Amino acid sequence: MLRRKADTVKATELRKPELQQLFLDMVETMDDNDGIGLAAPQVNKSIQVAIIKTKEGALVLVNPKITRFSLRKELGEEGCLSIPGVYGTVKRSRNIRVHALDKRGKRINFKAAGLFARVIQHEVDHLNGILFIDKTVEITMGKEKLESMEKSKR
Ligand code: NI
Repeated sequence: MLRRKADTVKATELRKPELQQLFLDMVETMDDNDGIGLAAPQVNKSIQVAIIKTKEGALVLVNPKITRFSLRKELGEEGCLSIPGVYGTVKRSRNIRVHALDKRGKRINFKAAGLFARVIQHEVDHLNGILFIDKTVEITMGKEKLESMEKSKR
């Protein structure tokens, strides 16, 4: 499932209560796991849907496309709910432009930068069957693991 290219969602399908329920379930799964993003293939649905955590709540992106990647890239540590305990440094564009449908099927397009842009790039990769470990330049221990090691030293 994680290696498949997810199917495009038709705007009319967004009227279906099952799909709206899936969005709610995905937000819950993301929050329960302290995630900052989740793609539908991670919950066994091979459709182009990603949930991104923002300060204003969960942003639902349907059929998201990144239409611009900045040449300026940044290294950052990533993890994935589908690959527990593994973290890695991934080079991503600092700035991107995104076109998508929102959860009601309205066209949206916006710019994203920094961590927000990183999470979107990670989730859009999921929709194309790409995992962060395919792009990682170095496998790292992960902040949580390092913190617990620090604690056990004391
Ligand atoms: Ni992931």
